[in-house]
Amino acid sequence: MQGFPNLFLVGPMGAGKSTIGRLLAAELQRDFVDSDHEIQGRCGADIPWIFDVEGEEGFRERERQIIEELTQRPEIVLATGGGAVISEANRRALRERGTVIYLYATVEQQLRRTAKDRNRPLLRHKDPEAVLRGLFEVRDPLYRATADLVIRTDRRGPKSVVNDILRRVTRLID
Ligand code: S3P
Repeated sequence: MQGFPNLFLVGPMGAGKSTIGRLLAAELQRDFVDSDHEIQGRCGADIPWIFDVEGEEGFRERERQIIEELTQRPEIVLATGGGAVISEANRRALRERGTVIYLYATVEQQLRRTAKDRNRPLLRHKDPEAVLRGLFEVRDPLYRATADLVIRTDRRGPKSVVNDILRRVTRLID
């Protein structure tokens, strides 16, 4: 679809950013890009390895560089990692270069959707629910401050979320 802005998805782990992003990109006939995948592809290693070897700081620097680059690509749908918004530089790049959508999910939902995933180093903890709650408190205000739209992803399926996003972004640009 022409004239449609870049769409940048933010939100916590387990909000469905990749699933929704892929569907949105298909609807809009655009490229879907996932910042975590790009980081892994360029580094030739997975995210747990990057955290183990370079620390969270090393990962955040890689994330900052990739977001700076990807937000300049035209006509994409970009899914960012759950922690992207903790960087002011990332928040600025996202806000200035596209329409930012916060995919809101409850902590219960995040926990359910991430339970079996071993690819998230921050959740390698004896109490992942407490981790998710702590992150939510800090990050929910940042997601909201960065986003043009807040979309709930609980209570309904991905297709309905995608339709809602398309409807609401269209209204924003009309
Ligand atoms: C992180 C979320 C992950 C990934 C990394 C750190 C976070 O991305 O970037 O493990 O800080 O919340 P997803 O939100 O895609 O799981």
